[in-house]
Amino acid sequence: MAVEPLPAASLRVLLPASKIQARVRELGAQIDRDYPGGVYLIAILKGACFFLADLARAISRPARIDFIGISSYGQRKTSSGEVQLTKDLDGSIEGADVLLVEDIVDSGVTLNYLLHVLEQRRPRSLRVAALLDKPSPRRLRPVDVAYVGFEIPDEFVVGYGLDHAENYRHLPDVCVLEER
Ligand code: IMP
Ligand code: MG
Repeated sequence: MAVEPLPAASLRVLLPASKIQARVRELGAQIDRDYPGGVYLIAILKGACFFLADLARAISRPARIDFIGISSYGQRKTSSGEVQLTKDLDGSIEGADVLLVEDIVDSGVTLNYLLHVLEQRRPRSLRVAALLDKPSPRRLRPVDVAYVGFEIPDEFVVGYGLDHAENYRHLPDVCVLEER
């Protein structure tokens, strides 16, 4: 499905929906093997919601889901380096095997902050699944991402949950956003 870009912007498909869906199924199978007792999925709002919805349905082990909200980007295309919790988890993760589900890793600031916050709540294990990894010169902190969907070039992407100023999250493909 083609989605129209806003004026003065263009969209170039980087990862078509079919390729994303196939990769998410692979990740689900891998998670099934690694978590025979089930997994507690925590998605970072809002970008990771689409990935979470598909990933959860690709997992056949028992799974629970929760959401955590964070703000760091505002209207800009690069991280402010400051992270704030805007919505906390509904329940306890103590003793749980937690998989933190993120849309994209860029500077690593968001994940480092959240891993630190969640670690203090004493989960049994805590790992990260990220749809996209953007190895970039902005990477400030190393992040250990256990499950990566795709490594992508250092370009600004939208779609499948990823936004620019809250637009484009609903695109089924991941697209490079080019502004004229
Ligand atoms: P980090 O803290 O710099 O690693 O940034 C991670 C967050 O920045 C992600 O959760 C996204 O919301 C946002 N982000 C980073 N790169 C992109 C991009 O290319 N498109 C859209 N959002 C991005
Ligand atoms: Mg964002």
